[in-house]
Amino acid sequence: AIERTLSIIKPDAVAKNVIGKIYQRFEDAGLKIVASKMVHLSEREAGQFYAVHKERPFFKDLVSFMISGPVMIQALEGENAIATNRDLMGATDPKKAAPGTIRADFADSIDANAVHGSDAPETAAVEIAFFFPGMNVYAR
Ligand code: CMP
Repeated sequence: AIERTLSIIKPDAVAKNVIGKIYQRFEDAGLKIVASKMVHLSEREAGQFYAVHKERPFFKDLVSFMISGPVMIQALEGENAIATNRDLMGATDPKKAAPGTIRADFADSIDANAVHGSDAPETAAVEIAFFFPGMNVYAR
């Protein structure tokens, strides 16, 4: 099915100047960028976005990392967009990410792991609505 997913290019990858290289991978995989914006998140916004991880031991480090510099946020659309984007990203821990994935090629650590991508249709709808409230995206 045609889906939408929320993607974030994190501060480490923005600082490495690889936004274009990552966008190229999305487009080469048939994903269309249907919304995008560069934002320097506040602590409150980052905490709200990652609220599901609030009780996890890594939450504080995750939030401080995500507000350490600007991020590039996009909604991607295409056939199986959620899984396609997760395949492109590779495993959360770059040490475990398959060769040729975004995280294997651009990420340095589990926190500075270059990209975020929604993990399911329900979270994609919530995450897209969080950053692009005008988009009227509903879970399929
Ligand atoms: P992301 O897909 O943005 O979702 C939550 C983030 O928490 C994850 O990528 C990692 O960057 C970060 N993180 C740090 N430690 C862990 C961990 N042990 N398990 C999962 N995510 C972690």
